[in-house]
Parts: sequence; structure tokens; C-alpha cells
Amino acid sequence: ASLFVDSSKSRQIPQTLFGIFFEEINHAGAGGLWAELVSNRGFEAVINNTPTIEPWSIIGDESSLHLTADRASCFTKNIVALRMEVLCDNCPPGGVGIYNPGFWGMNIEEGKTYNLVMYARSPDSMELIVSLTCSRPSGALKNLASASTRHINLSNWTKVELQLLAQGTCRTARLELTTSKRGVLWLDQVSLMPSDTYKGHGFRKDLTYMLLDLKPRFLRFPGGCFVEGNWLSNAFRWKETTGPWEERPGHYGDVWNYWTDDGLGYYEFLQLAEDLDALPIWVFNAGISHNDAVNSSMILPFVKDAMDSLEFARGNAESTWGSVRVAMGHPDPFPLKYVAIGNENCGYGSYRGNYMAFYSAIRKVYPDIQIISNCDGSSKALDTPADFYEYHNYTDTAAKLFIAKNQFDKTSRSGPKVFISEYAVRDGHNGSLLASLAEAAFLTGVEKNSDYIQMASYAPMFVNEKDRTWSPDAIVFNSWQQYGTPSYWMQTFFRESSGALIHPVTITSRYSDLLAASAITWQDNEKSFLRVKIVNFGSGAVNLTIRATGLQVGVNTKRSRVTILTSGNVLDENSFSNPEKGYRMQQKPCIAS
Ligand code: AHR
Repeated sequence: ASLFVDSSKSRQIPQTLFGIFFEEINHAGAGGLWAELVSNRGFEAVINNTPTIEPWSIIGDESSLHLTADRASCFTKNIVALRMEVLCDNCPPGGVGIYNPGFWGMNIEEGKTYNLVMYARSPDSMELIVSLTCSRPSGALKNLASASTRHINLSNWTKVELQLLAQGTCRTARLELTTSKRGVLWLDQVSLMPSDTYKGHGFRKDLTYMLLDLKPRFLRFPGGCFVEGNWLSNAFRWKETTGPWEERPGHYGDVWNYWTDDGLGYYEFLQLAEDLDALPIWVFNAGISHNDAVNSSMILPFVKDAMDSLEFARGNAESTWGSVRVAMGHPDPFPLKYVAIGNENCGYGSYRGNYMAFYSAIRKVYPDIQIISNCDGSSKALDTPADFYEYHNYTDTAAKLFIAKNQFDKTSRSGPKVFISEYAVRDGHNGSLLASLAEAAFLTGVEKNSDYIQMASYAPMFVNEKDRTWSPDAIVFNSWQQYGTPSYWMQTFFRESSGALIHPVTITSRYSDLLAASAITWQDNEKSFLRVKIVNFGSGAVNLTIRATGLQVGVNTKRSRVTILTSGNVLDENSFSNPEKGYRMQQKPCIAS
């Protein structure tokens, strides 16, 4: 059996082909990529219409401390603050107060500095001790770091900034705020950030490196269903996530069932795209949620809101919203050139009318922005104008996605291009080699059809192991560790594809129905590379002789390498303790002539 690459024929793959779908799902952002360690930092959380200060909890008991959430904040958009009334004169050793465990425990590492910012007011000149503590198996708490507000005048609302240097490591630490003096004190907007976030921009470093390793060319954000909400009142509203973090109200993501303080807001997503050297793709709400929708005759305020978001990203310092971006620390515009109008909304009654209102307004002011429709144009022509249509492909078996590799071979090339913004095998496992093989085969089809499919992204990207709402995902993490599922490692095989040249491949084998392959060449540091990717979806080994013609003279075949993604059992899954169980990445020299 043989595989033949004709390098004398080629077509350039779009620069944008492979990128990242990021959704605030599974605590991907809050308690994940966004490094904020405090959860519900402004005491504003409202879960299922019920206000709560959780996960803040009391230190002491109700005879020594009375906690109430009241509307005494200095911030008008998030007016709730926590009122602590200390009732004891002889308070217990260590004082009384509150603690926040963050998102299932904070990762505090010895020798690292953590920046605490909070707002406090006490007419009784109280002082607070701020500590990071770790529970020992005995139940006793070990102090990792502490600081005091002793010399800070808190008679009016005051911004308190303290640095905590950790003297020990704990993966499940908590932040404590305690006092031993009788009196009243209000607290609001308590933030604890590690000082070593990626480029100082607030992103957890280890998770950012995993994204960078994929060399993503675009970042689609902030969802997914998260954009829509179960109800419009809980949808992502970019203006509420922008500006000083202390003034953001936060919101309840009712589709994935958790509160987010919106520290990772619209600006931070644009910044993340820039830091990843990826183009931002902003998905905004089209006036449609899962259960309610705005009629097209009433959509103009939503259109204005979307236009403001574009001005925020691209406007100059003199513009109303551009000036807000500049004030946030980004004088240069962000290169926002792609927007998606809604998410999976095509079937909703008002979508087309709403879509057209957004489309016309954007086209008029920003003719260069590529507009992405939710309506599938693969089976019939769209009845609205668009530059792209979105296509989502989740299959319940690996075999179905393997077969789908050919699905776009014969699709009409007229009309808008395709953005496969979500694809994955969802076969009930948490990410197996079998799923990743089907996905890799599917992506070879994407490469081949990339005259038409211009962008593709696996979904979802992240899952916090404590909130596995959607599975599988590409990257699994907890407070301090992370690993890639085979679907993540599969994507690394495609990281040089965007912008490369693709060449025709012919497989001659009686197993060719179970094989998928593609071949690309690209240049890096004035060197040229050829990569042939082959998926064997069958259960037996296949011997293939690989031949290539048309390569440049002077090719150094001795430096060829074979990289194999394989495993003992194709349904094995990776884990923190065994991050390579579901695959083994074998590299060996290739016998080449
Ligand atoms: O990726 C998870 C979900 O799948 C997204 O929120 C939604 O767009 C799709 O249905």
C-alpha cells in the first residue's frame, strides 16, 4: 500500500484556518483561565433569582458576628456590599470574620506574591487581618501569608491594596478577613490575583501556554450558549463587563449555571486574542435567548449596543467607546474584523429580521468586517447576505465524524464561506484517542476543503474538573494542574496548517476507506517543511510507503521524523495522574530516501 504526495501541485490554506473556540462554560474563565482567586468578589451573586454571598462563609458564629448584604456600596452599578457587625468584646483567638475558598480552593504557591485589593469602610476604625490559610488534615489551619489594614484610615470607603507573600504551598487555600474588635465594617469588591499572570494581563499562565502551543489564528468568544442565555436578562452584555473591574456587576450565566464576576470581560477577551496573536471573533447576542427574543421591530437598541462594541474595539480616543478602551490601557485599536450575529439562533422566528438589522448597520460603518450568520448554507443557499455561515458538528460516535471528513467535498462553492466554529465527537467519554482520530480525519477534510472552509475550532476548549457540565473538552484543569485530552494533542498536529500549502494525496490500499490523510508544506526560519498526516481509523496496522514528488532539491530526508499518537486502548482517557494514558506521542526518525 502506498501514499503519494504530489508537491508540484498546491493551494494555499487560509491564514485563519485553525483557532480557538472559547466559551465561559465548565468554569473555563471564572475559576479557570481568568486568574482571579476570589469568587463572588462583590457579594453581588444572584443564583436562580436568589441573592447569595456564597461561597463566602463566616468565621465565628452568629453570637459573635452578624453578616448582612446591604446596599451600601460606593459602586452604583453593583450596589451590594457586605456589612459585618462584630458583637464580641473578647473575640475568639484568631478573631471573627469571613473567608472565601475561591473556586474549590485557591492555589497558593510558596515564594509567590498575591495582590489583594478590596474596598472597606468602618465608622468604628476597625482593622482587618488578611490571611491566606490552608486546612491541615487535622482540621487546623496553617497560615501561608498575612497582612493588616492597621494603618489605613477606613472611616470612608477606601481602596485597600496589600501584597501577600506566600510562605508555603497549598492547592486548596482560602482567603480570610478577620478582626477582633467590636464594631461595624463594610466590605466590597475583594480581589486576589497572583502577581505572575500572563503578560500581567490576568490570564493563568499554564493554561495560556497550552493555548499558545496550538498557535491559534483566531479566538471566538465568549460562547456558545453563554452568549444567548436561557433568558435575555442573563445573556452576556459586553458593556457590563467593561471598564474598571470594581464597577462590573457580574452576571449569572443561566445556561451553564454559575455566577461570574465578569473579570474576564469583553476587553480582556480582545486582549487575550492579541496575546495569543489570534484574530478576535466576537459573537454577540442577536436579541435572542433560549426562551425569549426581541422582535425585529424592537431590535434597534441591540443594534446600537453591537455598534458600540465595535467602536470600543476599533474607535479612536475621541470616540465615545474608543475612549473607554484607551482609558482601560489599550490606546491602539484591536483588529476586530469578524463578528458572529448570535449563536445557533437560525431556527428562531426573529433571527432573520434581527440579523438583517445588525448586518445593514455593520456593513454601512465597517465594510471590512466579515459578518457570520448562524444559518447553515451547506444544504441550501442562504436567504440573507453573509460573508460566512457557521456550522456546528457534534457527533455521538467517532465513526460519524470520521465519515463527515468528506462532507464538504461536493458542496457548492457559491455563497458565503464556512466557519466550522464547533466540532467534536461526543460519545459519552471524556476524550479518547478514538474520538481524536475521527476529529483528525475530519480536519484533514477541512484542510482539503479550505478553499471553502476558512475557519474551524474544536469545542469546548476548557473544563474545570470540579464543574464538568459539558464533556469532552480539549483541556482539563484544576486549581493548579492541567492536561490535554487526546483531542488537544490531535490539534497540535494541525498547528502549522494555517497559511501552509496543501498538496494532493493519493492513497492506494485496500484499507483506504479507513484511512484519511493530508500533506502540507510550509516555511519557517527560511527552512521548508513537509508534513504528511495519516489517520488509521481501522483496528489493524497498515504498512504504507510514502512517496512525494515535486519537493525542492536539497531536501534533507535524513531529518525526517515520524510522530505517532497512539494508545494501548483507544478508549483510554488521560487524567492528572496519568496525563498520557489515552495517547502516547512517539517520535522516531523516519527511514527516508
Ligand atoms: O460547546 C458547547 C455548546 O454547544 C455551545 O454553547 C453551543 O453553541 C453548542 O450547542
